[in-house]
Amino acid sequence: MDKILITGGLGYIGSHIAVTLISKGYEVIIVDDLSNAVDNVLESIFKITNKKPKWYLVDVKDSEKLKEIFTWHDFKAVIHLAAFKSVKESVEFPLKYYKNNIVGLLNILEVMETFKVKNFIFSSSCTVYGQADQMPINEQTPLKTPLSPYGKTKQMGEMIIEDWIKATGFKAIILRYFNPIGAHPSLHLGEWIEGEPDNLLPYIIKTALKHYDYIKVYGNDYPTKDGTAIRDYIDVNDLAEAHLLALDRLLNHTIHQQECFNIGSGYGYSVLEIINSFEKINNVKVPYKFFPKRVGDIAKAYAVFNKAHKVLKWEPKITIEESLRSAWDFHKQKLI
Ligand code: WQD
Repeated sequence: MDKILITGGLGYIGSHIAVTLISKGYEVIIVDDLSNAVDNVLESIFKITNKKPKWYLVDVKDSEKLKEIFTWHDFKAVIHLAAFKSVKESVEFPLKYYKNNIVGLLNILEVMETFKVKNFIFSSSCTVYGQADQMPINEQTPLKTPLSPYGKTKQMGEMIIEDWIKATGFKAIILRYFNPIGAHPSLHLGEWIEGEPDNLLPYIIKTALKHYDYIKVYGNDYPTKDGTAIRDYIDVNDLAEAHLLALDRLLNHTIHQQECFNIGSGYGYSVLEIINSFEKINNVKVPYKFFPKRVGDIAKAYAVFNKAHKVLKWEPKITIEESLRSAWDFHKQKLI
């Protein structure tokens, strides 16, 4: 079986990728420092796949530990997700983001080069476009300066990878995620919302669970249909499938050194539309209040995924309604 390393593989997106790859016969090895994950996710992966991937409690900033793992395993490819990902937090703590996301990436690339692991998938983000001038966004849309340090670490990461690929002749696929939501159909995996969440849907869920009296809606004077910000919400299972198809392309097809793909649903929904849909689908109330815009936020972002469809044969299959329902069901069943 081909061995694939997933950094950040116990996280929300990483764990869904792990079960997708395992179910297709890959041997998954995980490194995760649990900074944004919990280790009982391993149990959940086992319940779904009947396999428990080998996991190392490792911070990707620890290059010595990473090297040791590469002496134990002959990896066919690396899928790199281990990074901090909150737009809001990155504005408050930029150095924490530059150190973790850039040093972590450099360590992974260095150890891959040392051990001649030539296939790389990078978890990038729609935030690399900054506030794009045109909607929807395609891969040729010019990259503007991201509005958050988080987005800048991803844009810098793409540039680092481009130079590394040119120098080594290795191969990389860059996947620019839009906004991941939803839970695994088994409800054994979903977006963990311990403590103060970062993203919209976890806040909606915690408000519906009455952890908060209302959700703060950041900005109602954006140039959008209802004044609230628009994002492209992509189901995490569709996102995981994109990694499987990208891995297949790397391992079984000749690609021109580096390719990048938007992974989004192609639809833009406003914050209010998401709140209203969530209430209707799950028959709950989510009170909200308007607050000033959040520093680092853009007004609108939604994707064109034609390139992923044409080249990777990927398309989103799960509807926003199904994602909003599965996210709620995942948390409700945890309360039983
Ligand atoms: C969405 C909208 C907020 C919370 C995410 C990921 C990032 C990247 C891109 C993958 C914004 C508004 C939120 C709240 C609100 N994905 N909001 N009240 O900032 O688009 O970034 O997608 O790489 O990793 O974090 O997502 O869910 O934080 O915000 O009004 O309590 O919801 O202002 O307009 P964001 P988000």
